[in-house]
Amino acid sequence: MEKQGLLYEGKAKRIYETNQEDLLFVSYKDSATAFNGEKKAEITGKGRLNNEISTIIFEALKAKGIENHFVQRVSETEQIVKKVNIVPIEVVVRNVIAGSLSKRLGIEEGTAMKKPIVELYYKDDELGDPLINEDHVQLLEIATADQVETMKEMALKVNEVLLNHFVAAKVRLIDFKLEFGLTNEGILLLADEVSPDTCRLWDLNTNEKFDKDVFRRDIGSLTDAYEEILTRLGGNQYV
Ligand code: C5P
Repeated sequence: MEKQGLLYEGKAKRIYETNQEDLLFVSYKDSATAFNGEKKAEITGKGRLNNEISTIIFEALKAKGIENHFVQRVSETEQIVKKVNIVPIEVVVRNVIAGSLSKRLGIEEGTAMKKPIVELYYKDDELGDPLINEDHVQLLEIATADQVETMKEMALKVNEVLLNHFVAAKVRLIDFKLEFGLTNEGILLLADEVSPDTCRLWDLNTNEKFDKDVFRRDIGSLTDAYEEILTRLGGNQYV
């Protein structure tokens, strides 16, 4: 597999073409951003940690039958994935009130909910990723009704698998964001990344935060937090 030209550079990853039409190279960067890019920092080691954590999670999801774009981890900071066209919808699953939901509804962060809830956001930096519903998706023509239904079902399945996986690691999965993409054959796959950048992860007993809120809220060392997650997931298997 040969890494070729840069296809796209995002806030946390660079995506490269490969000599195989249906595969891409993903390179996880050391950049940390928050609040739609308003807060930025370079944090040595972040790319490696997210590449490793994301690899463990994608492999665990695959083992439970959840199709995703991950193919293989190829270096400390790189992985090969299947090429998809990303659907511009961020699917957020929440188990506990936190973050923007806490602000929007005025409910204290940490409040438990009777059942998980799924939210859709329109992935558009200029608009600040607004909250949308199925009617808005139809209006924007960014996915079909069936695709939205499938994404929501898959997101809840991911939640079930990850809740168990993290509890075994003594971690509470508070909420997370997923992105999906379509292959050339029109198959919907879980894509992007699943890491402490995209999940809220709290210690099962103390509620200590081990996710990007550490950076967003300046409450500790991001690399210490992500290392803790990697270790608890049985990681650091590549060093
Ligand atoms: O900010 P909010 O509370 O809506 O975030 C919900 C979850 O989605 C959090 O785990 C957050 O890290 C994740 N998220 C993300 N990328 C975004 C927005 C939210 O990974 N653009």
